[in-house]
Amino acid sequence: MQQLRELKSHELGELAALDARANATPWSLFNYQQSADDPKHIICGLFVNNILCGACVYSQVLDQAEILQLCVAYEYQRQGYGYTLLNSVCAELKKYAASQIFLEVMVGNDAAINLYQKLGFNVINTRKNYYKVNGKYKDALIMARELI
Ligand SMILES: CC(C)(COP(=O)(O)OP(=O)(O)OC[C@H]1O[C@@H](n2cnc3c(N)ncnc32)[C@H](O)[C@@H]1OP(=O)(O)O)[C@@H](O)C(=O)NCCC(=O)NCCS
Repeated sequence: MQQLRELKSHELGELAALDARANATPWSLFNYQQSADDPKHIICGLFVNNILCGACVYSQVLDQAEILQLCVAYEYQRQGYGYTLLNSVCAELKKYAASQIFLEVMVGNDAAINLYQKLGFNVINTRKNYYKVNGKYKDALIMARELI
């Protein structure tokens, strides 16, 4: 059984731990708490048999939306959950009249880039040395999708 719903504040610790294991650029618990305090942000969790297996943080201002974070728990990856999560978020944003969605992804994160391309996102720009991972700078790709 799959369920998609907004996470409650007491679930953010579990999400931060999941993200830390799954992601090369994870958010800390503090990052998630700050996001939860921002009325423009939504933290949406995907539960499979009542187990949190992934989450997406996004925001919408007028007709422009942004994916701020996305992760699927390491042990649940490659089973279609990332696709389900992001596809559902895109559908939700469309319902609320968003016409464009933006996101940033690190060059070399092929799993995420392939997922975004599969969902119709295209690279529109590059930000040089945007990420620092293990002391090394990496570029960010800015990707966008029209919601029509
Ligand atoms: C990116 C991420 C969310 C994908 O989630 P997932 O549940 O494993 O992805 P899915 O099983 O739904 O796969 C959907 C598509 O994504 C792509 N993909 C997913 N994992 C991939 C991998 N390891 N290598 C290459 N492509 C991959 C494929 O195009 C796949 O479609 P296919 O199965 O038809 O080939 C997951 O790998 C993750 O959490 N990574 C760490 C966090 C991260 O990088 N987040 C993005 C930050 S911008």
